[in-house]
Amino acid sequence: MSPCLRCGKGHELVKSIKTAKGLLLRPASATDATFAGRLLKDPAVRQFLGGPLPDESLSVASRNAVLPDEGERIWIVESTGFSPLGLISLTRHKNGEDIELSYQFAPDHWGKGFAFDAGRTALAYGFQQLALPRIIAETQAANRRSIRLLTRLGLRPYAEVMRFGAAQVLFQIRPDAIA
Ligand SMILES: CC(C)(COP(=O)(O)OP(=O)(O)OC[C@H]1O[C@@H](n2cnc3c(N)ncnc32)[C@H](O)[C@@H]1OP(=O)(O)O)[C@@H](O)C(=O)NCCC(=O)NCCS
Repeated sequence: MSPCLRCGKGHELVKSIKTAKGLLLRPASATDATFAGRLLKDPAVRQFLGGPLPDESLSVASRNAVLPDEGERIWIVESTGFSPLGLISLTRHKNGEDIELSYQFAPDHWGKGFAFDAGRTALAYGFQQLALPRIIAETQAANRRSIRLLTRLGLRPYAEVMRFGAAQVLFQIRPDAIA
């Protein structure tokens, strides 16, 4: 076990996973903060996530974006011959109870089914390896691409909340409903 960069404790070693379509979900590490920073500054990626991050908060946010807490997973999605395509994670939701699926892909890699392939792999991992009873996701009601992705992955809406000044839809999936 190597010491966690955030809390100093030893965490289990997490292996990379191959997806059905041959992508790689590689556990993120501190060296991926530069890639996370690019996503956090990208106006298209951040359209429904509060806009691009200002320079002064970028270095802390980029580092946090790639360092999971205990029981969480953050992966860099890679494809042979490409720089990283995106970032996908299973992390603790703001409600303090559930694990949430989140994803951000570089716009060059939208519209190719990569997020679906990575999302399906992350959900299967969450149910099979982490034995989660359910996985949730929260997305702005206006984020049509994200809602299409969640629906295709088999998640279903169960609540709506106002957060960060916008309507957000909460989605959920249980192990027997995986796409
Ligand atoms: C949300 C996000 C990940 C969706 O990405 P995406 O590429 O649209 O999602 P998918 O991987 O499901 O791809 C679906 C598209 O690929 C197309 N596609 C092409 N080849 C495909 C294949 N082999 N399999 C599946 N879909 C394929 C589909 O037709 C679909 O296109 P459409 O949207 O024009 O109908 C992406 O828009 C993103 O990173 N957004 C910014 C971050 C964000 O808002 N995150 C949400 C936080 S809650």
